[in-house]
Amino acid sequence: MESIFKVGQSLKVLLGSINQKPYGTAFVEDENNKLIGIVTDGDFRRMLLDGKELTDTLEKSDLKTFVSAKEGEDFDQLLKKTNNKIHIIPIVNSQGELIDYFEFKHQTKFTPVAEPTLENKELEYLLDAFSSTWISSRGKYIDRFEEEFSTYCGVKHGVATSNGTVAIHLALLALGIKEGDEVIVPDLTFAATINAVLYIKAIPVIVDIDPDTWTICPKEIEKAITPKTKAIIPVHVYGQPCQMDQIMDIAHRNNLKVIEDCAEAHGAEFNGKRVGSFGDISTFSFFANKIITTGEGGMCVTNDLALDMQMRKLRDHGMNKEKRYWHDEIGFNYRMTNLQAAIGCAQIEQIDQILKRNNQIEEDYINFLSDLNLFDWQKTFENRKKVVWLMCCTTNKREEVMKALSSNNIDVRPFFYCLSEMPIYSEYTFSNRNSTRISKIGLNLPTVKNIDYTRVKEILGTIIKH
Ligand SMILES: Cc1ncc(COP(=O)(O)O)c(C=O)c1O
Repeated sequence: MESIFKVGQSLKVLLGSINQKPYGTAFVEDENNKLIGIVTDGDFRRMLLDGKELTDTLEKSDLKTFVSAKEGEDFDQLLKKTNNKIHIIPIVNSQGELIDYFEFKHQTKFTPVAEPTLENKELEYLLDAFSSTWISSRGKYIDRFEEEFSTYCGVKHGVATSNGTVAIHLALLALGIKEGDEVIVPDLTFAATINAVLYIKAIPVIVDIDPDTWTICPKEIEKAITPKTKAIIPVHVYGQPCQMDQIMDIAHRNNLKVIEDCAEAHGAEFNGKRVGSFGDISTFSFFANKIITTGEGGMCVTNDLALDMQMRKLRDHGMNKEKRYWHDEIGFNYRMTNLQAAIGCAQIEQIDQILKRNNQIEEDYINFLSDLNLFDWQKTFENRKKVVWLMCCTTNKREEVMKALSSNNIDVRPFFYCLSEMPIYSEYTFSNRNSTRISKIGLNLPTVKNIDYTRVKEILGTIIKH
């Protein structure tokens, strides 16, 4: 081994040893060839910073304690001696002489902010759909998914779509919202909500959120209503149900349509009723990071048969149901495939377990991290059963938290930018006092299995110390 160095030699020679294999480490022996220390490139740098010169010699007193292994120790024993900082273990014989070394670099695995849970019958159903050759938008899984998911929501009809954005578009069209109509949307949401309104040339009216629930504020809705207002799109953002009793009351009093955007809240409840069961039409997304997924995908649910039929027609190019290839109006191809629906059927079977697991993740974060006093957690409210989509919190140290976690390979996301802050939407702003504040301090932590909470805490602990 060329990286062996004898105590008493100069630091210049030591540098040469460090530069040999294993790179970054020199093994230091005494005059009797006994291993008495290890010097890493980091140790070397510190010696220079402490004022040593390259011509100085390395003495026994410069050495620190070190980890070694005895001849004959097996892989597991050697591995246990390594960690994120120690990745080279010298192996010595019974006389204490270096005979070999063990090298193992710990790779920190990337922890994504969300990941789909595909461990149920997803593959089985997918292969079944595949081998049936019904791989486009017809097949038994489409009907089954529409039926099972709408039943889960407590709603009569479900129209599966290719994603959650077009589901909102389809809902607006089916409800007859037209160019120039005003549609009230919350400021804190993913852009899909407002984009769908703009697709039909309606005028979005962006209103503020409630500072506690982060969902659209009913009082602001009421204030924003004009004679042109035709619809409200409450968004159950980050799994928190909106104040649906007040919103439905406002809608009834003002003859407005309601489209619930439930993309982030599958299974959440308000007053004991699942979200999606309040509005005229409600929409869901099944994108891969959502509570349940079909890869890409969405659904509109409604209790109104006429709306259900209209959405089916518009989803399929506006084709007349009775007269094939006869188009009554200009429609779209917004269909979901049987392959996607097959995955969806397996997902709906395990939605309860997914929601339970996510609740546990939230509980674990709160237990592990609360004493750091870094975060305020998303609140729960009486009469509202929120679901944990992404782990949500607010903190006034957001930049530091994001930097610390992402540099340790842990994915972390800031809240959505407010719609009102983006130049392409800002002209539609009615009010945004709370949303602009919350959006700047909100953070999503990973909601995946096998989170190493101790490590997360260790990483975040360094922020507190600074
Ligand atoms: C609130 C909200 N609405 C709509 C959508 C759009 O869903 P999709 O990505 O399936 O088009 C999303 C998805 O990210 C969302 O978060």
